[in-house]
Amino acid sequence: MKAIVPFLEINKMNINNIQFQVIEFRSAEYRQAVYLRYKILRQPLGLHFTKEQLEEENGYIHITGEFEGKIIAYLYLIPIPENRYCMRQVAVQEDFQGLGIGRKLVEFSELIIKERHAAEMFMHARLTAIPFYEKLGYVKSGELFSAVGLPHFEMRKYFTEKE
Ligand SMILES: CC(C)(COP(=O)(O)OP(=O)(O)OC[C@H]1O[C@@H](n2cnc3c(N)ncnc32)[C@H](O)[C@@H]1OP(=O)(O)O)[C@@H](O)C(=O)NCCC(=O)NCCS
Repeated sequence: MKAIVPFLEINKMNINNIQFQVIEFRSAEYRQAVYLRYKILRQPLGLHFTKEQLEEENGYIHITGEFEGKIIAYLYLIPIPENRYCMRQVAVQEDFQGLGIGRKLVEFSELIIKERHAAEMFMHARLTAIPFYEKLGYVKSGELFSAVGLPHFEMRKYFTEKE
């Protein structure tokens, strides 16, 4: 008989059961991830994704965290000239938040871009997420601005070839 593990029993001891990987645009995993993004990032603001917005994501690097066949964490990276990458749509399923999964997801994405000789990662961080990115070594830059109706700061981290 298959054991059913309630989500709340997941803790830092078995975070290794989460599999992080790069997925294909338009794959089944990507479609699941779009739904996760909608639930975590868009629905609370009364917003949707349009077909045109999603089409623009072709060519981006899509990264997921998967637990028992379910996508529970996601972000995408936009490659920008001069070895810079923009991180967007960082989302962890609500009942998996606060367990270190967001940290692992971002660290995994940093490994991916360091392999590609990245010089810099930056993002537009919601005010509420700034302490999370600061823990991961990102630093605020510029002025507070508004996007999707929420206050944001740009945050960045530089990489050197030695890292
Ligand atoms: C922000 C988010 C991605 C963080 O992922 P998470 O899995 O909950 O975060 P983690 O458990 O990996 O936290 C890593 C560290 O950041 C800290 N942290 C995370 N969120 C925090 C917050 N809102 N305030 C203060 N500290 C926070 C944790 O305490 C932890 O610190 P530690 O390593 O010293 O223990 C997740 O909570 C989420 O999806 N939030 C809703 C969507 C969102 O705001 N996305 C970001 C848009 S810019």
